[in-house]
Order: sequence, then structure tokens, then C-alpha cells
Amino acid sequence: MAKERAQWTGRLGFVLAAAGSAIGLGNLWKFPYITYENHGGAFVLVYLAAIAVVGVPIMMAEILLGRRSQKNAVGAFRVLGQDKPGGRLWQGVGFLGVMTGFVILSYYSVIAGWTIRYIMMAVSGELGSLAHDPAHLQAFFGDFLGNPYQQIVFHSLFMGATIGIVYFGVGRGIERAAKLLMPLLLSILVILAIYSFWTPGFAEAMHFLFRPNFNELSASGVLEALGHSFFTLSLGMGAMLTYGSYMRKQDSVPRAALTICALDTMIAIMACIIMFSIIFSFDFEVTKSSTILFTTLPVVFFQLPGGAAVSALFYTLVAFAALTSTISLLEVVASYAIDELGWGRRRATLTMGVAILAFGILSAISLGGNAALSSFNLIGRSSTAGVFGTLDYLASNWFLPVGGLMIALFTGWILSRDETREELEEGNGPLGWAFPIWRFLIRVVAPAAVGAIIVSVILGAEYQ
Ligand code: PHE
Repeated sequence: MAKERAQWTGRLGFVLAAAGSAIGLGNLWKFPYITYENHGGAFVLVYLAAIAVVGVPIMMAEILLGRRSQKNAVGAFRVLGQDKPGGRLWQGVGFLGVMTGFVILSYYSVIAGWTIRYIMMAVSGELGSLAHDPAHLQAFFGDFLGNPYQQIVFHSLFMGATIGIVYFGVGRGIERAAKLLMPLLLSILVILAIYSFWTPGFAEAMHFLFRPNFNELSASGVLEALGHSFFTLSLGMGAMLTYGSYMRKQDSVPRAALTICALDTMIAIMACIIMFSIIFSFDFEVTKSSTILFTTLPVVFFQLPGGAAVSALFYTLVAFAALTSTISLLEVVASYAIDELGWGRRRATLTMGVAILAFGILSAISLGGNAALSSFNLIGRSSTAGVFGTLDYLASNWFLPVGGLMIALFTGWILSRDETREELEEGNGPLGWAFPIWRFLIRVVAPAAVGAIIVSVILGAEYQ
């Protein structure tokens, strides 16, 4: 007898869990630093456009695939692709997704672990004394990265928390965690946003983010914005597909997709406003933008009143955001083992979780001190040294775009018009003119845009 598939208890549960997956280090770390590198303004506009014309349609496609098939990433392509051109080959897209989940989680958890260390230091007062001197903090951070023992400990702690939540399943684990952590995360963000509004750098931050400086925008900036839209929305590897498979039939896929994309975008922009307001409040030279979060911000926090409290709140925010993302990564892998290998949930989460933890140790010990830090570019377009950098490069430049391209092609060209229409309208009502627009975006615009990323990576790789 087939066991009934788990479901979210309602619309809110799904939206919070999915938004939790989307909102993570991508929003709080990566987006501010690539925005800084690309001079804000026009880059932010291009990013918003990428979310609207590529992110939203693919988000709808992924959720649609999951809810229609009621399966994990591999099963979804198997069931839906069965008697279609390409047949069983489409399962490969699901396998790529599960593998990508495994890989991303293994290094994502290492960075997420740093937040635990920073929360501890903020509370103990250690961060305050280090932050009095930027050089001190920089040196500490370099030593910390180069300390394999500590890297493994914090990575393991974070993986432990992730496994502990996914272990309890969709309703009692993931949804419950999302319903607890997401409101906390949003409240912390609002508090910090209000705080930043009163800092002297607020006006400059707004100007930096929203002036139309198209002359400062480069072609690579456009591609970076596009590529980042995948990572930040958790697209291209079946996370949204897997979460979508637990969605109830009476809820609307398009509405949920729009809400998730809107929340993710709002938080990315808010993170920029907060960080830039604080940084611009001081005559502070940002030397390495990729480590703003761990080396620049604490210094600045402690120049302000309530530095210890603000920094403890802030790193808690980052930890929560990362945790709701890591659980979605593990769920992709676990649900594959549960559906396809017939494992029980406990066995699936423990075995896969520990395997990922073990594999992540390779990344944890490859950070190696200041030398690695200088070539360090989280989730960047450039390939970097070490296991950490290589995995990150592969995942964000190859796996996610290729997965996203395949998802767009499959939904747009392999599934029939009626099939997709039916699933998108189920629980939503007639879509009217919005349906042909979505179909055009998913068949033509999204594949063309993602194709451009892939071509640029191929060409770029040659010249490196
Ligand atoms: N979207 C997450 C972030 O912005 C990362 C992520 C990618 C999570 C892919 C799940 C799947 O940090």
C-alpha cells in the first residue's frame, strides 16, 4: 500500500518554507557584495528584471512539476516525461538536481557555520574587542578560516541542526521550523532596517542602490545578475519542485510563486539598504567586498550604539536564513532517497545528512588561511582554488543554469500546453492573458537568457 504523501498544512506553510529556502546567504551575503562590485543602481534594476522575466516563470514551472507529479526531483521527470519525446532521459535532470543539492549543501553549511561562531563571539564580548581594530578582525578571520578543526566543528553543528529538522519530516520538521524562524527573521530585519534609517549613511545608500547609472553597467554584470537570480531563488535543482510536491491542490501555484519571488527580492534589497547605510556612515574603505559580512560589518557595528546587541541580532538573522535554506537542500536529497530508494525518512535524512557532512569536510579544510581568502569568491563567476571554490564554481556556473535551462525546456516544450495550463489554474482559477505570457517567457525568454549565461561561462572559461 502506498503511503500518503506528506503535505503542507496550508498555503502559509508552503509559502514560508519556500521563501525560507530562497532567502539565505544568497540574499544577505552574495547579493550585497555583487551589488557593491557592480556599482549598484543599474545592476539592481537588471537584477529586478531578471527575477521578473526568468525567475518568476521558472519558479512557477518548478512548483508546477512537483505538484503535478507528487514526486521528488528524479521521480517528477520520470513520471511526467514517460511517454514524451526524450522519455526516461529526462530523469537525468532530476539526478543532476539531487547531486547539486548534495554539493551545494556540503559547502553552504561551512559558511553557515561561521554565523554560529560570530553569534557566540558577539554574546561573549570577544567580537567587540576584535572589532576595535579592523586589522585585528581581518587577522582573526583569516586564522579562523585556516583552522580546520574549528571549521569542521561549526560545519558539523550546522549540519546537525539541519538534519535534526528534516528528520521530523515536512509538517513537524520543515514547516514548523519555517513558521518559527521566518517571522523571527523578518522581525530582526525590520528592526535593523529601522535602525539603519537613522544612520547618517542611509541617504547615500539609497542613492547608491537606486540611481540609474547605466554607463557603469558591464555585460558581465548583466550575466552575474541573471546567474544570481537562480541561486537566490533556489531554482535549477529541484528544491522548489520538491517543496511544490507537498503543496495542496486547492492552493494557487502562480500566486505562491509570485509571493516567494517578491519576498526574496524584498529581503535582498533590505539587506543592501541595511549594510550600505551602516558602511557609508563611516569613511570606511571596503577592500574586499566578498567578506563584508564577516570582516567589515562587525567593525562598523561596534562604532554604533548597542554594537554587541546589533551584531548578535544580525548574525542570528543570517543563521536563521541559512538554516531554512539548508533544510531545503537536504530535503531534495532525502526525498529522492525516500521515494526512489524506498528508504524511511529517518534513514534517508541521517544517511544522506552524514554523507553530506563528511563530504563538506573537504571544503571546510580547504579554506586554508589568508592565501585562500584572497582568491575567495563565494558563489562567484570566477573559478577559485580549493575544493570549496571549485564546487561553488561548478554549482553556480554550471549545475544551476543547466538545470534551469532543462526545467524551462521541459515545461515549455515537452509538457503540453493543456497540461501546464491545467496545473497552473488548479486552485487559482482561469489565468486568462497571463498564461500565454508565462508560456512565452518559459519557452523563449528564459531559455535564451540562461543559454547566454552558459555560453558566457564556456567562453569565459577559455580565456581564464
Ligand atoms: N536560495 C538560497 C540562498 O539564497 C540558496 C539555495 C540554493 C537554497 C539552491 C536551496 C537551493 O542562499
